[in-house]
Amino acid sequence: MNGWTDGGTMTRVEVKTLEYAAGSLLKVGDLSVEEVSAILAETDRIERLDAAEKARILVGRRIALLFYESSTRTRTSFELAAKSLGATTTLVSDKSSSIEKGESLKDTGLTLRALGAECIILRHASSGAPFLLAKSTGLPVLNAGDGMHEHPSQALLDLRTILTRLGLKTKALDAKTLDGVTVVITGDILHSRVARSNAMLLPKLGARVILCGPAALLPEYALGLGPGVEIERDFDKALKQAQVAMMLRIQRERLAGVEIDLAQYIDRYQLHMERLEKDAPDALVMHPGPMIRGLEIAGEVADGPNSAIEEQVRHGLAVRSALLVRALGAGGFESVTV
Ligand code: NCD
Repeated sequence: MNGWTDGGTMTRVEVKTLEYAAGSLLKVGDLSVEEVSAILAETDRIERLDAAEKARILVGRRIALLFYESSTRTRTSFELAAKSLGATTTLVSDKSSSIEKGESLKDTGLTLRALGAECIILRHASSGAPFLLAKSTGLPVLNAGDGMHEHPSQALLDLRTILTRLGLKTKALDAKTLDGVTVVITGDILHSRVARSNAMLLPKLGARVILCGPAALLPEYALGLGPGVEIERDFDKALKQAQVAMMLRIQRERLAGVEIDLAQYIDRYQLHMERLEKDAPDALVMHPGPMIRGLEIAGEVADGPNSAIEEQVRHGLAVRSALLVRALGAGGFESVTV
């Protein structure tokens, strides 16, 4: 179970993934530590191949990118990853397709399948949409962000960024790999699928996750995300304990009536250089993007030596390559049956 109520509706999101095609990645909860380890090992393996070897892995395979919400990093990295593996890709976005005419997600998925798509990468504004698509098409589906629910590939790339920058091993991961590592996630936790996926993934590997933000953006029930998750509303107190400071933007498009005093928010929660130097001079600074410079993070911190923000993007390309290979049962996942 996902362990958190789904935003405003307060209904529990509880979905089992077993009935979906092997290779699907719909939520972090479906991944065992062994599977996370296998995905990162395959990421390492693919990264070491030369361009020609890479381009043979998914040659002739068809991958559809179905995006109902805007995206820069996630869409581009999935697309470039697929192309570098030799696959053919097609992008369907809600703005320029029959979705605008009212076609349902199911019918859009069935159309893509009829055209030969073997895997669909879906971003959708509704939590749970990837489950519906996976069930109705029987194809492996990769969740590229569903509403306020999850963004599992982001959590995996964040994990790889943390392991690499902290000098930890990226192979043979276990429940103690991140022992002694405290990750402080600050900002609009309520609306963040990135926060949810990270808060569920990182403690599986032994990390302590501190969520930080005002009550309007971080309800107490976020503690239900699982073991290893704490709440600290005082950003300075939280930051003093951090090896990793992950900053999030306020998701204006999902605020739905929540009023935020921005001046006060900036004063309490902005990660600026003075605060970083005072509280956590050695902490790794992360942000999934898009960043709003001058709001949740100061430009000089984003561009500074602690920042791993561009590395996160590069890890995204690598990790998503492995996820595509896994989805299509190729490469190091060829003989794996789930
Ligand atoms: C995030 C998303 O779309 O969930 N971005 C991303 O994928 N890197 C975060 C956001 O929109 O703020």
